[in-house]
Amino acid sequence: MEKRKLVVANLKMNFVYDEIKSYILQAKKEITTSQVVICPTSIYIPYFLQGNYALGVQNTADDSEGVYTGELSPKQAYSMGVKYTILGHSERRIKFNEDDLMVNKKVIEAIKHNLTVILCVGETQSERALRKTEQVVKRQLINCLRGLEYDMFHNIVIAYEPVWAIGSNITPTVEDIIGITNYIKNAVSSSYQYENIRVLYGGSVNEKNIRELNSINEVDGFLVGTASLDFQKLTKIINVVTY
Ligand code: PGA
Repeated sequence: MEKRKLVVANLKMNFVYDEIKSYILQAKKEITTSQVVICPTSIYIPYFLQGNYALGVQNTADDSEGVYTGELSPKQAYSMGVKYTILGHSERRIKFNEDDLMVNKKVIEAIKHNLTVILCVGETQSERALRKTEQVVKRQLINCLRGLEYDMFHNIVIAYEPVWAIGSNITPTVEDIIGITNYIKNAVSSSYQYENIRVLYGGSVNEKNIRELNSINEVDGFLVGTASLDFQKLTKIINVVTY
């Protein structure tokens, strides 16, 4: 059976309400599959409900309720119809000092409350220059997935996102993507005996390079930032990946 590939639109902190209204209307009208996951800024989640896509948030806390001013609870997100949470994104790691330990706590809390985690891993430019990609990805996987039981892996999707490829219009070669995707799948299978982990690619995916990227059989979908802000570009990507 062919696996259903995912397209995850990470809208980051973009759009004021007037700007996102037409995006929401188009998404509700034109996206007909839950293979597409829209991750708007969480304040807009209620407006995105009742579409045929799945809904995700861009971060969730490492606890579910209580005295955490400004935090987003995975339990509350799930109660609103959210299905996915993006965790460990390099922007959170770099700008908010999230380390693997924090990401690990968030992963466990999110799965406890039925969310599917899109766990981002990937090396920086300097780590790549030192040929440390596999070492870095392995460390992130081991630390961020620590303590997970076998069944919890049904709720995990890994997104390989090299930090240097995010928003840069540069992507790794097809060979590099195949290599690291297989590396991640083998690492999860040998460490946790889980054979069906889905691995997405993210970093400068756009409507122009999607055909080539989508031809990589090992990759189970894409995490799309910049290109997902333009609904027409997102549609082109969806059409290539999901039909
Ligand atoms: P990008 O962002 O598509 O703009 O490179 C991807 C991401 O940060 O998830």
